[in-house]
Amino acid sequence: NGRCVVAVDGPSGSGKSTVSRRLATALGARYLDTGAMYRAVTWAVLQSGVAVADAEAVAKVASSVSLEIGTDPAAPFVRVDGVAVDGPIRGAEVTAAVSAVASVAAVRQLLVAQQRAIIADAGRIVVEGRDIGTVVAPDASLKVYLTASAEARAQRRSLENATDVAATQADLARRDRIDSSRTVDPLTQAEDAVVLDTTAMGIDEAVARLRELLDARV
Ligand code: C5P
Repeated sequence: NGRCVVAVDGPSGSGKSTVSRRLATALGARYLDTGAMYRAVTWAVLQSGVAVADAEAVAKVASSVSLEIGTDPAAPFVRVDGVAVDGPIRGAEVTAAVSAVASVAAVRQLLVAQQRAIIADAGRIVVEGRDIGTVVAPDASLKVYLTASAEARAQRRSLENATDVAATQADLARRDRIDSSRTVDPLTQAEDAVVLDTTAMGIDEAVARLRELLDARV
């Protein structure tokens, strides 16, 4: 039972979170949702009242808060200065602001360092995000790039959040654009990532496919 790091990257609505969590449970491994970390910092920024566009002020808030994130796939949690923020980080306000906060280089530096420490400590872990295979864990045992059509991704998110499909698709497109075009650690496919298109694939099938890939590699 040696080290095993699985990097799962991809856009929102690709099935990343559900698939990563289920895979971690199946492997008896830890699970890290790096998006929740960017969301938690964004929540702190909004609480502090500083402008999301003020990179320097945003970086200051990020470095002044203490972030705790759970890595048990059965009971994920995230806390900012001891306050549980699991609900609010999924809200519309945080979702609208998170891509701006995540494009601040100093914020990424801080969170990537924390993520690497968590991964080193866990040993066996499934990590999901946008830059895991490329930046956070370039030496991962398996790199997966999950994707799905824009329509399927919007469909899933609007079901989850009980929001309008068209509005959700527009919001996903906006975040994808910011996440893919930012200068620091943009969302890109690692060269050695296995691409899995989940448009017509159920969760169980995606998890099974990843387990096969792992069995073949590790
Ligand atoms: O995965 P989730 O949708 O919760 O991520 C929220 C946002 O956090 C993304 O849109 C992206 O801007 C940012 N993020 C990132 N790098 C990661 C994970 C998330 O920039 N590794």
